[in-house]
Amino acid sequence: MRPKKVYLECFGCQMNAFDTEVLESMLEGEGFVISKDPSEADAILVNTCSVRENAERRAIGRLNDLSRHKGAVLAVCGCMAQRLGDRLFELVTALDIVAGPDSYAALPSAISAAVSGEGRKVLVEKDGSVTYRLRSVSGSSPSRYLSITRGCENYCSYCIVPYVRGTFRSKDACAVIEELGLLEASGTKEVTLLGQNVMAYRSEDCGFVDLLGRILEETDIERIRFLTTHPRDVDNGIFTLMAETDRICPHIHLPFQAGSDRILSIMNRGYTSSVYLDIIDRARALRPDIAFTTDIIVGFPGETEDDFEETLAMVEKVRFDSAFTFKYSPREGTKSAGLEDDVPVEVKKSRLETLNTTIQRIRMEIVAARIGSVEEILLDARVIKGEYQFLKGRTPHFRNVLVESENWNPGDTVSVVLRELSNFTFIGEEITGR
Ligand code: 5AD
Ligand code: SF4
Repeated sequence: MRPKKVYLECFGCQMNAFDTEVLESMLEGEGFVISKDPSEADAILVNTCSVRENAERRAIGRLNDLSRHKGAVLAVCGCMAQRLGDRLFELVTALDIVAGPDSYAALPSAISAAVSGEGRKVLVEKDGSVTYRLRSVSGSSPSRYLSITRGCENYCSYCIVPYVRGTFRSKDACAVIEELGLLEASGTKEVTLLGQNVMAYRSEDCGFVDLLGRILEETDIERIRFLTTHPRDVDNGIFTLMAETDRICPHIHLPFQAGSDRILSIMNRGYTSSVYLDIIDRARALRPDIAFTTDIIVGFPGETEDDFEETLAMVEKVRFDSAFTFKYSPREGTKSAGLEDDVPVEVKKSRLETLNTTIQRIRMEIVAARIGSVEEILLDARVIKGEYQFLKGRTPHFRNVLVESENWNPGDTVSVVLRELSNFTFIGEEITGR
């Protein structure tokens, strides 16, 4: 009998990307072969996001589109699956399986059973102890994700995550070290530790800074990054480590969401703008070149022009390398969904444009100041741009670089002179390899 083929697609954040990799290896363990073509697949699995209404609309559109492949079992997992459960059968009539983020251990066998003709299934039981371990690594990639925490209990008033991803939990520290060993053995040079809230990591007496210390000592991973964080959990020890070693990359994604203390309080963020700025100052006192990136929401209920000006002022003060910016989108079941969504769409749109213009200007100033400097780049892929072949990589600060070289390969860490910019990407020039 020919092996069954499964096609996977992933929407949403890096946590979903990691879960999709884990699901791929679980499905391979169940005897499936991963296919790149939905038209030849026996099963199609879509991992989804719920963070904004738009993310769900896109996923439902895509699921209905994939329903054309009539012979294939259609399964949906991830945050939208957890949120909507069996309501999804009305929105996507061809759907066979709905599985929430705590149910992935049962998902591959459920897909197998459905391929053999079993009927619809809904797996949305919550289990606050589940963390997924990487048991095998397919292929070789210089840069990989590894999740170390799951869930969130911060209950920011706008956010669906605590309702769909469940309670906060941390992976056992020894498991993290073992998984890093697997990644290292497969050729991985850089690992991004993932969670909705990585700095809140705690496994027995091992906190996040302790975990970073263990990773530095017990592995040879060249570069360690992490995503995402909450200002509430920041520990100076992280900046001290960044000052001591380049293996912890000098970049932190630290969402601030809004500049107005009144709005931050209604968002239930648990800090004020001055507390946030104080974190930035402490970090830069220890390691002046740390690059900060952030998430910002415009048009939260009740946001006035003055509140928005305070958001712009924060951007000017911190000087972020880049930012993800969003129009507020009410999510059913969250606290702020009970507030009137009173900022008109047009106003949200124009605030977003103003914000993005400011962010891009500062970003350009930051990158332009680096022209002429020498940076260590980890090359992660080959890319073709027009008639030219480049190697693509990142600086320690997570800035993009393209370089032409006959001598280098993805996975190499190389010294490059940053010669010029194409948008926000540096064009580098080879000096030495190693
Ligand atoms: N509306 C708009 N943006 C949101 N985010 C989370 N929930 C919402 C929402 N309801 C943004 C936040 C978060 C990022 C992942 O998505 O900025 O940090
Ligand atoms: Fe989307 Fe949040 Fe779920 Fe990630 S955790 S997929 S951003 S809803």
